[in-house]
Amino acid sequence: MKSEQAPAEPQPPLGVAVIGYAFMGRAHSQAWRNVGAFFDVPAVQQRVLVGRHAGEVAEAAARYGWAESATDWRQVIARDDVHIVDICAPGWLHAEIAVAALEAGKHVLVEKPLANSLPESERMAQAARAARARGIASMVGFNYRRVPALAYARQLIAAGRIGTVREVRASYLQDWLADENAPMTWRLRKETAGSGALGDIASHAIDQVQYLTGDTVTEASGRLHTFTAQRPGPDGPEDVTVDDAAWATLSLASGAVASVEVSRAATGRKNSLRIEAYGSAGAIAFDLERLNELEFLDATAPAEEQGFRRILVTEPAHPYAGAWWPQGHMIGWEHTFTHQIRDFLTAIRDGTAPSPSFDEGLQVQRVLAAIEESAAAKSITVQL
Ligand SMILES: NC(=O)c1ccc[n+]([C@@H]2O[C@H](COP(=O)([O-])OP(=O)(O)OC[C@H]3O[C@@H](n4cnc5c(N)ncnc54)[C@H](O)[C@@H]3O)[C@@H](O)[C@H]2O)c1
Repeated sequence: MKSEQAPAEPQPPLGVAVIGYAFMGRAHSQAWRNVGAFFDVPAVQQRVLVGRHAGEVAEAAARYGWAESATDWRQVIARDDVHIVDICAPGWLHAEIAVAALEAGKHVLVEKPLANSLPESERMAQAARAARARGIASMVGFNYRRVPALAYARQLIAAGRIGTVREVRASYLQDWLADENAPMTWRLRKETAGSGALGDIASHAIDQVQYLTGDTVTEASGRLHTFTAQRPGPDGPEDVTVDDAAWATLSLASGAVASVEVSRAATGRKNSLRIEAYGSAGAIAFDLERLNELEFLDATAPAEEQGFRRILVTEPAHPYAGAWWPQGHMIGWEHTFTHQIRDFLTAIRDGTAPSPSFDEGLQVQRVLAAIEESAAAKSITVQL
């Protein structure tokens, strides 16, 4: 009797379509291109890149390594040779494309925030649950979960190394709207972006608060502000209908408290995501501008020896780091997208549910909606 199992049949590559070829479409394309070179993942084929303008998307497809380009996402999600749909289009398209793709039996990765509104997000989460029951995976692109230093910070916190978490401070500051003559874009119109800095970057900060602590936001008090009310549009001055900056204090189920502060008009701050967590037995601090590093303070050490130590999160034992270069050979922002796709593909192969799920994206969306509701009512505390 033979004891060995027959070798597994080689699986045909998973066909991928990315929708959107500008900022995120380019970042994701790079990740689809290199994930198999660094991580043990199922084989993929970059089948088709989708955009609105045939000539431009064809040129982008050729440069980013896609076999084909297309301008109609509906035709693309109907193709039998497309198994994964990766949505890198603006927020107003997320719900429509994601629900249609899930119903067509495609695995779906969608950029953050999950959608522009709570009803859209609920519809997406429902479609994702139904698809999951049919073995179809879905995930939201909160890529900062895949910074090795933040993934390691979560491990330290989960292992109790900072004790009971009492407070988290998360700020995300950018300055591309500090210039009041910066032009209108889809990001500054409520109907296309849903909200401003709130949905764009507070979504990342709120996801980090919940991800790092493993906790859930239960109430929120917020404030929104728009510094520049009109900006140059294609047909003259146009009203800005979203916030430039947002602030919130959040209660977590455990009793911990978090503060979130975000702005796209913080002069001099380019892409400054900073997170600090303080617990009964220690603290951690992270700064995206030094993303290979994590500060850790162990408050159980003798007081005279205490101090924040700088951990270089590039050891083979650190999350994701071992797949890249020898220790101390730094990685960057774009690697987070490769890690994200690695985790998505691994979940598809193993039949497990990838995280952050659409339900986790929906929970972030509930916090965003609570902050908006609070801001519209003089910062009253809103229960989730
Ligand atoms: N994870 C991150 O760090 C991060 C950073 C920036 C943006 N984002 C998110 O990524 C998404 C896209 O943002 P972006 O910065 O790449 O925007 P962008 O404006 O740079 O690109 C949008 C793309 O969508 C395409 N598009 C628009 N309408 C389309 C349609 N009907 N059919 C096909 N393609 C269409 C455009 O052609 C363009 O290629 C948003 O949800 C945004 O919040 C995430």
